[in-house]
Amino acid sequence: MKLVTYALAGAFMLASTAAFAESHAAETENTQLMIIEAALAGGDAAAGEKVFKKCKACHMIGDGAKTRTGPPLNDMIGAEMGVFEGFKYSKGMVALSEENLVWTIENLNALFLKPRDFIAKTKMSFAGLKNEEDRANLIAYLATFSTVEADD
Ligand code: HEC
Repeated sequence: MKLVTYALAGAFMLASTAAFAESHAAETENTQLMIIEAALAGGDAAAGEKVFKKCKACHMIGDGAKTRTGPPLNDMIGAEMGVFEGFKYSKGMVALSEENLVWTIENLNALFLKPRDFIAKTKMSFAGLKNEEDRANLIAYLATFSTVEADD
């Protein structure tokens, strides 16, 4: 019985992943890998778009996204922390950036749980998302705007 349930869950995930990929056909294979990774982490990008409303007061995403109170959030997954040119980050963010840390799914999850715990004295005045599903969905949504460059 258990095996059947897992197989069904797997098929459902692949189907929803294909739907995300199709709706962003212009993006690269790497993006699709990131979407798959996020989907495997349990995220639903469409639900994540709704969660993103909480971020919109300060962040833009997508074509033509510009700096608001916070930097634009394209290509965040796998990106180095705090490197958007011209943005004046807090000292805490600069310190993380100097450690060459990267926005992995784990780090994004920790940031979204409690920004103040992740970045010392951050300028991002946002309490955090207590709901695990909201965080997973949000990450899946961000993944649809992310590409990962291969190392050369
Ligand atoms: C009140 C404004 C505000 C809200 C709301 C907000 N942010 Fe931020 N965000 C910022 C600021 C300002 C920074 C820069 C932080 C610093 O320098 O300490 C930031 C930084 C970030 C970064 C790191 C960017 C980088 O260049 O490394 C990510 C990712 C991020 N925010 C995502 C989100 C998401 C997703 C949400 C919604 C859940 C959100 N933020 C809500 C203002 C905000």
